Amino acid sequence: MSELNIIALKIISNGKGILAADESNGTMTKRLQDVNVLSTPESRLLFRQTLFSSESIKDCIGGIILYDETINQITSLGKSIPELILSSGSIPGIKVDTGAKELTNSPGEKITEGLDGLRERLKKYYNLGARFTKWRGVYSISNNKPSKLAIHTNAHALARYSSLAQENGMVPIVEPEILMDGNHSADTCLKKTSEVIEKCFEELIIHKVDLSGIILKPNMILAGKQSKSKLSSEEVAEKTLKCLSDSVPTEVPGIAFLSGGQSDIEATENLNLINKNNKTKFIMTYSFGRALQQSALKIWSKNINDIKETQNTFNHRATMCSLAVKGKWSKKLENK
Ligand code: 13P
Repeated sequence: MSELNIIALKIISNGKGILAADESNGTMTKRLQDVNVLSTPESRLLFRQTLFSSESIKDCIGGIILYDETINQITSLGKSIPELILSSGSIPGIKVDTGAKELTNSPGEKITEGLDGLRERLKKYYNLGARFTKWRGVYSISNNKPSKLAIHTNAHALARYSSLAQENGMVPIVEPEILMDGNHSADTCLKKTSEVIEKCFEELIIHKVDLSGIILKPNMILAGKQSKSKLSSEEVAEKTLKCLSDSVPTEVPGIAFLSGGQSDIEATENLNLINKNNKTKFIMTYSFGRALQQSALKIWSKNINDIKETQNTFNHRATMCSLAVKGKWSKKLENK
């Protein structure tokens, strides 16, 4: 087993998943404004430090993805954020892309940037304690989108990023996210997601990326948010499993889903059914942002010094997600 494979497995084994707390300052400011909390470096640190010192990190969270500001912050207890994460046996990770920008010659589509100077930034993050990284390519579905150009350029960037992350001793999370906005059917989502993922692996292989040392972070297969058809969780699980078993090479150790705007319970229920029906050898877990943090953020915003209630809420969500990885989640346990 390669060193990278060992790290990847440590992050996602034993019912653990990933906490995606890597919102950029712009995104985090929006999240905080939505709950009427002023966004400052101190308030962003306080919320994240509260989550990262929760009891459930030890058993449910194998890795936490950070943003540049957070990985450099010192908690009020004197530890750095990476030290706090390591003290619960979890692994610090870091988002290394610099965001999705307009894709030239393809109006309405995006290309993720951040390759310039990446090798140097990776070395800096490794020295701060990061052992895995994230890069997100983003695609939307409409008549002729995602275009060949968006699929190709983003796959190329994801592969260049992955090879550099591995060169520097870190596991790359490869995240091609097809947004759920639109009125497309679930079958269109399945077809487009497969096309995007297949192209990513084509490029990863060209770039000689060690597939046993990556984690794939895809969307689940859903009908568009504006579509009239609403899939059952059984259908989401069936289509998601079909997509991934057909398009992901077997060397990949695990798949960690994003929640992508689903409600926290919806994402958990879908993940539970995916695992109940999983006949592949891939570990199927979570790398949720909103579906792990949103409920805790709401509670925290009522009183930012109420650490206990915030952590209780987060612990419940993390425990439910971990049960879903084992296929042991139920509505009854959710509402207990
Ligand atoms: P969500 O789970 O909120 O979609 O966030 C996951 C993520 O990391 C998106 O890049």
